[in-house]
Amino acid sequence: MIVTIDGPAGAGKSSAARVLAAKLGFRFLDTGAMYRAVTLAAVERGVDLRDEQALLRVAEGAEIHLTDGRVRLDGRDVTKAIRSFDITTATRHAADHQGVRARLVELQREAAHGQDVVSEGRDQATVVFPDADCKIFLTASDGVRARRRYDDLLARGEAVTYEEVFAKQQDRDRRDYDRPVGGLVRTADAVEVNTDGMSPEQVVDRLMQIVASRRPASSQAGE
Ligand code: DC
Repeated sequence: MIVTIDGPAGAGKSSAARVLAAKLGFRFLDTGAMYRAVTLAAVERGVDLRDEQALLRVAEGAEIHLTDGRVRLDGRDVTKAIRSFDITTATRHAADHQGVRARLVELQREAAHGQDVVSEGRDQATVVFPDADCKIFLTASDGVRARRRYDDLLARGEAVTYEEVFAKQQDRDRRDYDRPVGGLVRTADAVEVNTDGMSPEQVVDRLMQIVASRRPASSQAGE
């Protein structure tokens, strides 16, 4: 079974998807982590992110592994490094690059091959797994999302202001929705969940209900 969770930054996708996958016993695919890892690899190699050829070479050469909730780049654990404010902002170059997207879409499909998966990102229901059994679109209002991101960054010890985080979020939203390939779209067959005012546990409970309602009869019988 493939469960896709798409939505804008800060809607709580990653944490909810991770717990959902663990509860279901499915593999968790954090596809945003792949775009971030390509960006980190490029920055560390001194590659100009606007150099499309060079960025593609980095994406094609980088060994990215998502296992046990950790992200490994060329064998190194970069789980924390890819979430810095600077990498978050710079990731737009990889996300806007059609060649990089094609490469990462391929890796995402390979990672899901023959497995039950919860896959989280922007284009999972549209481009990567259009035939997914269960599609969820997770949102929250702009202010709530920016507040969550701001609290996360403060907890990591980063010196940012709420206004800065909010402005960057608006910019990322615009880019995510307007991206010609892999842009964020709520598909007609997706169930929308607005997480405003919901605790993380409530979000996971709601997602569990949605998955249960979409689960193919064959996999339910096998439980
Ligand atoms: O979900 P996130 O914040 O970790 O995503 C990081 C960036 O990657 C974000 O700017 C959107 C982009 N992204 C994407 O274009 N397609 C995906 N499937 C996942 C993330």
